[in-house]
Amino acid sequence: MPFKFLTLEVADRVATLTVNRPDKLNALNDATIAELGNAIDQIRVDDSIGGALLTGAGRAFVAGADISELSNQSPVLAKARARAGQEVFRRFETCPKPVIAAVNGFALGGGCELAMACHIRIASDAAKFGQPESKLGLLPGYGGSQRLPRLIGKGRATQLLLTGEMIDAADAYRIGLVNKVVAGDQLMTEARNMLKTILANGPLAVALCIEAIDRGLQMSLEEGMILEANHFGLLAATEDMREGTRAFMEKRAPVFKGK
Ligand code: COA
Repeated sequence: MPFKFLTLEVADRVATLTVNRPDKLNALNDATIAELGNAIDQIRVDDSIGGALLTGAGRAFVAGADISELSNQSPVLAKARARAGQEVFRRFETCPKPVIAAVNGFALGGGCELAMACHIRIASDAAKFGQPESKLGLLPGYGGSQRLPRLIGKGRATQLLLTGEMIDAADAYRIGLVNKVVAGDQLMTEARNMLKTILANGPLAVALCIEAIDRGLQMSLEEGMILEANHFGLLAATEDMREGTRAFMEKRAPVFKGK
């Protein structure tokens, strides 16, 4: 499916999805959000794809929702816009294949929210993060007020959301907003290497791990333990579990089939 504001390339089981609106710092207009939804659906169903890298063209990852579209929105449209974007971002978060955000530059507002909806974030040392919506008289609409405190804790999230301040990659790493910071020219290589490490593991185990983390965070500890035990039991029914454990005992690399 051709995109206007994205590119999607697949090589060696890795999909590279690039938000490609560099003249507007990849700001997310409604059309780009819709394209992101189509792209993640494609990534989910295409058997030739094991996982994805998400990045931005030019000097930004994504500099937020497109402010020109927000300026005259009605309350009804604003709510519908937020719900539509939340739903698309949720499809990234619940994707059973690993999605890594390779944050190359500004990740502000909807950009920070999009990065948080990915499973792992690797940042260039030039990246900048923030939720500046309060400076616009808004709050985040694509899940930022909910994911940020879950990711970095209530106190730090409240500070970022209320001040709207921008932080650099080193600070983002210090507070746990990103998993790793690397030199800008190494970003895609490092992100691909991490994805390849994950893709060498059992895909069913990876998918159920993503689900256990995501669903578990919405449950009590006791309910989450049951979910984990159920997944543990389910994986025991797979050829991959037998292959993985047997390969360890035979001192060889496993060959997983996703079955
Ligand atoms: N929505 C719409 N357009 C945006 C945008 C956004 N969120 N962020 C950047 N742009 C556009 C600018 O309007 C400008 O377009 P123009 O050349 O047609 O005037 C272009 O992208 C380049 O941005 P510019 O502001 O000139 O770059 P800069 O280096 O001076 O500043 C930022 C970079 C990221 C600090 C600044 O663009 C910014 O503050 N953006 C908005 C961030 C934000 O509030 N996001 C949350 C939105 S809810």
